[in-house]
Amino acid sequence: MAKVLVTGSAGGVGLGVCRALLAAGHDVTGFDLQPSEPGVHSVIGDITDREVVRNAIAGNDMVIHLAATPDEADFLGELLEPNVRGLFHICDGARTEQIKRLVLASSVQVVSGHSWRQTIQIEDGPRVVNHYALTKLWLESMGEMYARVFGMVVIAARLGWLPRSPEHAAELLASPTGTDVYLSHDDAGRFFRACVEQKMEPGQFETLFATSKPATQTRIDLSHTTKVLGYEPQDTWPSGHAF
Ligand SMILES: NC(=O)c1ccc[n+]([C@@H]2O[C@H](COP(=O)([O-])OP(=O)(O)OC[C@H]3O[C@@H](n4cnc5c(N)ncnc54)[C@H](O)[C@@H]3O)[C@@H](O)[C@H]2O)c1
Repeated sequence: MAKVLVTGSAGGVGLGVCRALLAAGHDVTGFDLQPSEPGVHSVIGDITDREVVRNAIAGNDMVIHLAATPDEADFLGELLEPNVRGLFHICDGARTEQIKRLVLASSVQVVSGHSWRQTIQIEDGPRVVNHYALTKLWLESMGEMYARVFGMVVIAARLGWLPRSPEHAAELLASPTGTDVYLSHDDAGRFFRACVEQKMEPGQFETLFATSKPATQTRIDLSHTTKVLGYEPQDTWPSGHAF
C-alpha cells in the first residue's frame, strides 16, 4: 500500500484515478481547489502556493500531478501560473520532501503536429501546435531532469482524450481522430494504478502514452507503455464513458 497525493483529484481524470487507487487499497489524499470524492482525504489548496503544496506533499510516498489548465488557453492569463509555476512547486516540493515517485500528466497533444495517418511512436518525439502542449513539453523535460539529477522515479504520462463533460465528449466525437485516442475512466484508473505499483529503478524516467483501444485505427503505439508498466487498455469508445 502506498501513500499517494493526487493533485487535480476533483477533475475528470482525478476522479477515475482516486477511485482506482482506493479500490486497490492505497491511502489517497486529494489536493484540489475543490473538495475530493468521499473516501479520499481532501486538501483544498492552490498549486500556485508553494508552501501549501510542500505541506500537502510531506508524508506521502508518491505524487500524481494532474492539476492544471487542461487544454489550450491564453498563455499568460491561464496557462502560466498553474502549468508552469504550479508544476515547479510540485516537482520541487517532491524533491525536498524526498518523494520516491512522481507521475506527471502530459498529453497526446505534444505529438499532435505529426501526421495522424501513421501510428505515432514514442521515438517520433514531440511536435507541438499550441502553448498548452508547450507547457506539457516543459513538464516532460522537468520530469526527466528531476529523475536524472535527483534520482527520483518520474513518469510523464501522455494522456489520451478523457471526456470531462458532455460538451467535451461531443468535441471528441466531432474530431476525426477523437475515438482513436480516447481514454476511458477505467483505463485511466488501470494506467495510474500501474504507475504506482510497477517496480521501477531509482532515477528511471519514462514518457508513456496512455489511451484506451482505438475505435477505427491505431494512431498511438502503446507497446512501450505495455513493456514498462504491463498496462493493457480494456475499453474502446464509448465503453467506460461517463456521459
Ligand atoms: N481530459 C483529457 O482529455 C486530458 C488529456 C490529456 C491530458 N490531460 C491532463 O490531465 C490533467 C487533468 O485533466 P482533467 O481533464 O481531469 O481536467 P479537469 O479540469 O477536469 O481537472 C483539473 C482539476 O485540477 C484542479 N485545478 C486546476 N487548477 C488548480 C490549481 N491552481 N490548484 C489546485 N487545483 C487546480 C481543478 O479544480 C480540477 O479539479 C491535466 O493536467 C490535463 O492537462 C487531460
